[in-house]
Amino acid sequence: MKNYAQIVDQVKPLIRKVGHFILKERLSFNQERVEIKGRNDLVSYVDKTAEEMLVEGLKIVLPNAGFITEEATIQQRRGEYTWIIDPLDGTTNFVHGIPIFSISIGLLHQEELVGGLIYEINRDEIFWAVLNEGAWLNDQRICIASPSFLKESLISTGFPVQNFDFLDAYLKVISKIVQNSHGIRRGGSAATDLAYVACGRYDAFFEYNLNPWDVAAGILLVKEAGGLVTDFVGKDNALFGRQILAAGKIHQELLDLIRLHWPD
Ligand code: IPD
Ligand code: CA
Ligand code: CA
Repeated sequence: MKNYAQIVDQVKPLIRKVGHFILKERLSFNQERVEIKGRNDLVSYVDKTAEEMLVEGLKIVLPNAGFITEEATIQQRRGEYTWIIDPLDGTTNFVHGIPIFSISIGLLHQEELVGGLIYEINRDEIFWAVLNEGAWLNDQRICIASPSFLKESLISTGFPVQNFDFLDAYLKVISKIVQNSHGIRRGGSAATDLAYVACGRYDAFFEYNLNPWDVAAGILLVKEAGGLVTDFVGKDNALFGRQILAAGKIHQELLDLIRLHWPD
């Protein structure tokens, strides 16, 4: 078994360096450089270059590891170890100049997440976790918040941007939460949302249609911070299952609410 804490430590200067690149490009960013990847799906040279920089650095950290990356700038392949990367989570925010975007890097050993980092670039905050060792924000140990009921909680989510099949069910769930909680936020970066659950800023996060690179690091962070992460039927299947519910004590209450409205 490798020393996962040491591996995560090696990635910190790299994630910060790439974050500084993204921030520098933001200063001169021009909307004309946006490309449309799919319906409501934006990308630019910043996402792609950031990914190339991350891949180059991570190849040195673990030479034989595979990669699953959003922009597919490298051949997509699973290995004994696999890096799962979103080089810029919150591209729409980035393009519009809203300062909530991050880099997300998860490390999978066979089927198990063993390391994760989320760098919230504008706040210079590195959230990181190591399997069975805990979760941190920069040098501070973090843990999830502890409200026992939805009515005492602040919830985050993301609205679907491409597949609207479950929109009605989703809006029903949101309606209930809006009326029975401290409120609901849509920050625009799933990775940042999960990092905020891990450190107790949010009490829960749920979304559907996300990809592994949006959630890999965040799943480990929330779990290592004491939370529970499942899909919408309560299974430990959020990484590839395209449904995620991450929360502390209110996990069951939210799961019951989602299940009441979500089609089987
Ligand atoms: C998006 C963000 C957003 C979520 C979208 C994702 P991107 O990732 O995480 O919060 O709602 O579904 O695709 O495209 O900015 O990397
Ligand atoms: Ca993303
Ligand atoms: Ca992205």
